[in-house]
Amino acid sequence: MTNKLKYFVGNWKMFGDLKSFNIVNKINKFSKKTKNVYKNNKVILCVPSTLIYFYNKKLVSKSISLGAQNCHYNDDYGSFTGSVNAKMLKNMGAEYVIIGHSENRMEGDTNEIIKKKIKSAIKRKLNVIFCIGETLKEKKGGKTFSSLKRQIKNSLEKKINLKKIIFAYEPVWAVGSDKTPKTEELRKIIKFIKKNIKLKKLPKVLYGGSVNSKNMRSFSSISDIDGFLIGRASQSSKKFIDIIKNYYK
Ligand code: PGA
Repeated sequence: MTNKLKYFVGNWKMFGDLKSFNIVNKINKFSKKTKNVYKNNKVILCVPSTLIYFYNKKLVSKSISLGAQNCHYNDDYGSFTGSVNAKMLKNMGAEYVIIGHSENRMEGDTNEIIKKKIKSAIKRKLNVIFCIGETLKEKKGGKTFSSLKRQIKNSLEKKINLKKIIFAYEPVWAVGSDKTPKTEELRKIIKFIKKNIKLKKLPKVLYGGSVNSKNMRSFSSISDIDGFLIGRASQSSKKFIDIIKNYYK
């Protein structure tokens, strides 16, 4: 079993209500119970913003962290109907926020907008889970590396505190599709991302895209991966827990 810190991050997407606390509670209990077995792991559940406060209040002896799935780029209150910014998420008890998810990029998030969101999140003391990934067209055109490089370069300010950012490699074609990259391919891409981020210590890079308990074993052989961003499978406590168990098997 590895001693390196591993992240298991759930991205609930547009899912969940007050009753779904049941799922959070079970995952929290599991995490607490296995603290001494899986010594160095960190469980984060990124739930809808409407639920963060309630879940935080309900959790007894908290062993997991809660996060949000997106934030507005505007750092302070403003006339942005329907939006929630980093400061508001922090006030509700979020510790993390996903930024740059491909589902948000599809709805108009550009690297320029993402840059502002990351800046605001860090200013408001949130840890950022920053998603990058190539589209199928880019992959087929042999442009995976250049696409990743561009996303990193154009979404991060020069002076940004990189220590507050966890990168998540999420190939757009793998998210929600039940397709995943080949092991060797993934190994190379994770290395490439780490090399492209100028930090004294190697940055944390997660993999996300159709992760489930069955394909988990093929990912756990890649020691450079620092954890996983898990979408649909995190909407079930059993599936999420099975992923963690299988990782350490
Ligand atoms: P998926 O989603 O696991 O359902 O493919 C991943 C994600 O949205 O981060």
